[in-house]
This record gives sequence, structure tokens and C-alpha cells, in this order.
Amino acid sequence: MAHTKYAFVVPDRWDPLPTLGLLALVIAVGGLVTGILLAFNYAPTFEAAQPSIVNISSNVTLGGFLRGLHFWAGNFALVLAALHGIRVFWNGAYKAPRRALWVVGCGIFLVLLGFAYTGYLLRGDERALAGIVVADGVASSTPVVGGAASALLLGGEVISSVTLVRLYAIHTQMLPVALVGLVLAFLWLWRRAGPARAHTDASDDTAPAWPRAILRDTVWAGVVVTLLAVFAVALPPEIGPKADLGGPGSPDAQPEWFFLWVNQLLHRVDGMTFLIGGLLPGLLVGLMFGLPFIARGKERAPRRRIPEIAIALLVLLGIGGLTAAALNREHVEHETEAEQPADTAPEAGAEFDIAPVLKKFRCAQCHTIDGDEDGGDTGPALNRKVFGELYTRKYFRLKVSNPGEFWEDTGMSYPRNRLPNDEELDALTEHFFGK
Ligand code: HEC
Repeated sequence: MAHTKYAFVVPDRWDPLPTLGLLALVIAVGGLVTGILLAFNYAPTFEAAQPSIVNISSNVTLGGFLRGLHFWAGNFALVLAALHGIRVFWNGAYKAPRRALWVVGCGIFLVLLGFAYTGYLLRGDERALAGIVVADGVASSTPVVGGAASALLLGGEVISSVTLVRLYAIHTQMLPVALVGLVLAFLWLWRRAGPARAHTDASDDTAPAWPRAILRDTVWAGVVVTLLAVFAVALPPEIGPKADLGGPGSPDAQPEWFFLWVNQLLHRVDGMTFLIGGLLPGLLVGLMFGLPFIARGKERAPRRRIPEIAIALLVLLGIGGLTAAALNREHVEHETEAEQPADTAPEAGAEFDIAPVLKKFRCAQCHTIDGDEDGGDTGPALNRKVFGELYTRKYFRLKVSNPGEFWEDTGMSYPRNRLPNDEELDALTEHFFGK
């Protein structure tokens, strides 16, 4: 047999392209090592997260470089794993007897996605906060268990440092354990499955000499690691202003590149948060995992698997198109922002629809407002007519602008600890007291 130890990682015919999965593994190990080092100087609370990252980047020896390596390792591993998966799909190498390998490989890909996603939220800057708001929107839109899902994610009613600690536990404990476990399972299955037969069905005597394949992959690994270091230095990851939990929130909720397409759809279609943010990605993930059990044909040659390849191509094009649209939107928004002088902002107190404000701060969850029967009764009924007689405008503004500051022991708080801005406060006051 020409298949020696290393032969199972190379196709039957000589191929100058690297074993992509192996490169992904090397980079992922780099991500784990740099992550452990970063943990020495990071703190997962909203008070401390962003300043601790700024500190790492500017004061810690090699801290900026380390952070760059960690960030880019996550992205590189994700891309390499995806390319590896695409290649396996193209070659039909996911079919029996390698189905278990495909399933475990998909698991590894999801874990890498999880790392990159929680990683950007851990920055604890305004953009991360906006990202958590979107994630919570999707979680709480889940039918039946929405409230529980949201509470599980946030660690309470509102976004707080508990939320960040949860993300930190996922990022630094749950996912690494899952990754190591899955990779070990993958390697074991890989050995057991033997060499992947290319669809060309080459005979044994064309099998590569394995030292040559090792050399090839080593050279490629060198190239990719060098590229990683160049990226880490030339394109350091950004860090935004520290998140203000009580602030008006940042309109800039752009997630990382791999979720831009979901965001673009959410932005396009209103009121279908769960369908788009939960069900659709879930369906795609299900399709990915189930592929070897859906496409059961024995045929491996791509030209005899046209329908399957066409569907995959359509999905990839759809995701690519939406991503491009989202990038373009971001671009356009930045440009219009730059063009608009600040003083053309809408006048405070101008025509303002009150309903979205009541909804945003969930006033009706605790108050019956203007006799509306659907309102809650945690707080006193708020009534337009009586209000002017019982309370002053000033009292109302003080109370509503910041309930916790007005009265420490208050039972009144707003979702995600946000506070109304001047415009919203004016609108509320006007609604209950008139002009
Ligand atoms: C989480 C529940 C909750 C939400 C949400 C909430 N409130 Fe309250 N609110 C209360 C409770 C409870 C009180 C009673 C006093 C206290 O605990 O501060 C109260 C008191 C008030 C008072 C003082 C009334 C009085 O009799 O002194 C005003 C005014 C008020 N809320 C307005 C609002 C407005 C406007 C909103 C939405 C922007 C809102 N509240 C959202 C729970 C809530």
C-alpha cells in the first residue's frame, strides 16, 4: 500500500493546494493561545471591558499585536474552515462512509462562528451593545420561550454586566471545551475513515509520496501564519467608545461580516424578527448538517450532481448579495452622515408619534395608559386628563427622565436600562400635559 501515515490527509492525486482543514486547525490553536494571554488583562463588565481593551492595545507589552493576532486568527480559521467545507462538498467527499466526519466538521464550523460572534460582543463598546440589543430582539421574538431565552441571554430583565459575564463564559469556557472535544472526535473519525477517495478514482500508484505533502502543508502553514501576522499589524481590530447602558444607544448596529446578511434582511423586512433572525439561519444550519442524509446518491463527480451544487451556489450567492448590500448601505449611511451638518437635525418637540416611545420603554407593561385595558398594573394608571391636575410637568419630567435617580427604591425601570432622550421626554410630557 502506498498509503502511509500521512496519506489520509491528501487526495489521491498530487494537489499543490494545502489541506485546508489542517491550516484551520493550526490557526485555531493560535486563537486559543492568544486568547489565554489576553484573558490576563481583560475584564468582562461594561464598566471595565472597553477600558481594559484600550489598556491592552496601548500599555501592555505586545498587547496590540496579540489582540490583532487573536482577532484575525478567529476570522482566518472561520474562512479556512468554510473553504475546506466547500471543497469537501464540491468533491462529494461528505458522502458515506464519511458522513459522521461531515457532521462533526459542521459542528466545528458552528463553534468557530460562535467564537467570532461572542468575541466582538465582548468588546463592550457601543457597537457591541447594539449587537446585544439585536441578539436579544431575536431571542425574545422566539414563540413561547422568548422571555426565557431573553432572560437566559441577558442574565436578567435588562442588559447588564451579567450579560457580558455570560458571553465571556461562553467564549472562554464553553466554546474552547467544545472545540477541543469536536476536533479530537474529528481526528479520530478521520483516521478511521481512511483516505478520501477523489471522484477521479486514481489508482494507488499515483498516490503522492507523503513527505512531499508534509512539505507542501508546512510551506502553506508558514504562508498563512505570516499573512496573519501582517494582518494583525496592518489592520488592528477597532474598539469603539465605551458602551453607555443608560444612553440613547448607538444606531450603528452593524454586526461582524459573517452576520451582515441576517442584519440586512432584518433591516429590510419589518416584524419578522424570529423568522429571519432565528428560523432562517436555523434552517440553513439544519440543511448543512443534514446534507449527507438528504443528498444520498453515490455519485461524487460534480458534473453528475448539478442540482445539489446549483442549490448550494444559490444559497451562497444570496448570502453574498445580501452582504454586499449591507456593506453598501453602511457606506451610504456614512456618507450622508458626513454631508449633513449637525444643525439640520429635527427640532426637539416637533411632531412626534408617541406610540413608539411608549413601546420602546414598555410603559404599558407596568402602567394602564389613558384607560387602555391591555396595560399593566405594577405602577399607577397614567391618565392624560387627571395628570395635569395631580402632578406637575416638572415632577413628571424628573421621574420619567431617570426613574432610578429620582427615587432609588423605585419599581420603575426601562428595558435594557436605556433612558429617554430630550426629544422622547418632550413628546411624553406633551402627551400627558399638552403643549
Ligand atoms: C418596569 C415597570 C415600569 C415601566 C416600564 C414604567 N413604569 Fe412608570 N412606574 C412604575 C412603578 C412601579 C411606579 C410607582 C412608583 C415607583 O416605583 O417609582 C411608576 C411610577 C410612574 C410615574 C409616577 C406616577 C405617580 O403616581 O407618582 C410616572 C409619571 C410614570 N411611572 C411614567 C412612566 C412612563 C411615561 C413610562 C414609559 C416611558 C413608565 N412609567 C414605564 C413602573 C414602571
